[in-house]
Amino acid sequence: MSRAYSDITFTPTVRALQTHLGSRDKYAAFDLADDRRDSLGPREAQFIAARDSFYQATVSETGWPYVQFRGGPAGFLKVLDDKTLAYADFRGNVQYISAGNLTVNDRVSIILVDYAKRARLKILGRVRLVALDDAPDLIARIEGPDYRARIERAVVITVEAFDWNCPQHITPRFTDAEVNALTAPLREEIAQLKARLAGATAP
Ligand SMILES: Cc1cc2nc3c(=O)[nH]c(=O)nc-3n(C[C@H](O)[C@H](O)[C@H](O)COP(=O)(O)O)c2cc1C
Repeated sequence: MSRAYSDITFTPTVRALQTHLGSRDKYAAFDLADDRRDSLGPREAQFIAARDSFYQATVSETGWPYVQFRGGPAGFLKVLDDKTLAYADFRGNVQYISAGNLTVNDRVSIILVDYAKRARLKILGRVRLVALDDAPDLIARIEGPDYRARIERAVVITVEAFDWNCPQHITPRFTDAEVNALTAPLREEIAQLKARLAGATAP
């Protein structure tokens, strides 16, 4: 965990509970780290660029956390620089829950998971909603070439902290593309064996 992440997540109440339950000493060193590690590095950028989905939590004005799944082509959450992420917010079911929440509270908490490699990255950030007409260059950078749904706004996230989770309890799961890539050599071998068998048994 980084200093930036513990500064945000270890609230006074959390710290008090850690003290009460005996784990405060284990985490005290994070409070003193010189390097806050609040910018994305190459490992994080590469990981985000390969993801085809993430979960995003926003906070409503009534205090409720709201988690929404976001999916798209791999890399649709763009890394603009080491402190900035952005994605195109398409016209979806027009409930506007996340967008509405973000107009009153700019905080987001995001989780990205690579199930196949059993890795999980958590990001805390603040969002700026950008209207289409206000930033045509930005929209051009974040829109996918093949996706024809209407973009309503850009969601621009300033990263405040990130943390990698341990792989424990992530069940490996594979996409169709990953299964196809993994089994391609096996299918090729089966085809060759079948051809050889057919040749051997031909009259
Ligand atoms: C026509 C249509 C297209 C959608 N396209 C996407 C999409 O590309 N990616 C995605 O994550 N969700 C998509 N959704 C579902 C979304 O979860 C939903 O529309 C919207 O993002 C909800 O946001 P909210 O829960 O913050 O109001 C789509 C929904 C509809 C009805």
